[in-house]
Amino acid sequence: MLTRDEEFLLNSARAAAANAYCPYSKFAVGAACESEIGIVSGCNIENASYGLTVCAERVALFNARSRGASRITRLAVSCITVRPDAAINQRMCCGACRQVMVELMQPNAIVIIDGAGVFTLRDLLPAPFWLQSSEINGE
Ligand code: THU
Repeated sequence: MLTRDEEFLLNSARAAAANAYCPYSKFAVGAACESEIGIVSGCNIENASYGLTVCAERVALFNARSRGASRITRLAVSCITVRPDAAINQRMCCGACRQVMVELMQPNAIVIIDGAGVFTLRDLLPAPFWLQSSEINGE
């Protein structure tokens, strides 16, 4: 059972999927993230050079960050073309997106996955790759 806020965010993700550019997979995905600047969404964008495809979750997160969001607390994602009886894995976020979520979202962030449930980011990626700034700068 989703809260009203979660339902609203999920509906934003579903709406964003309408703009998916997915001529190769025909698998339309939408994502929406909530932050101090409001709700910002994205959809998957494919490319003839398949590896250049970017998932909806990353498009939404990069869109939000580039608009100035620094406290992204929740993200909703919806694979709108998935069959109602499809396995849960067809609705889950890929590993690359989970790593990007850890980078750009708050540590206690929530991820709402249409037809799969509500997860903490920690549930989705319990042991992410992470660098301390001191390790990067050698300080
Ligand atoms: N896709 C997403 O947008 N998010 C995911 O988490 C998994 C996959 C997209 C990428 C590609 O355009 C299509 O779904 C099929 O893999």
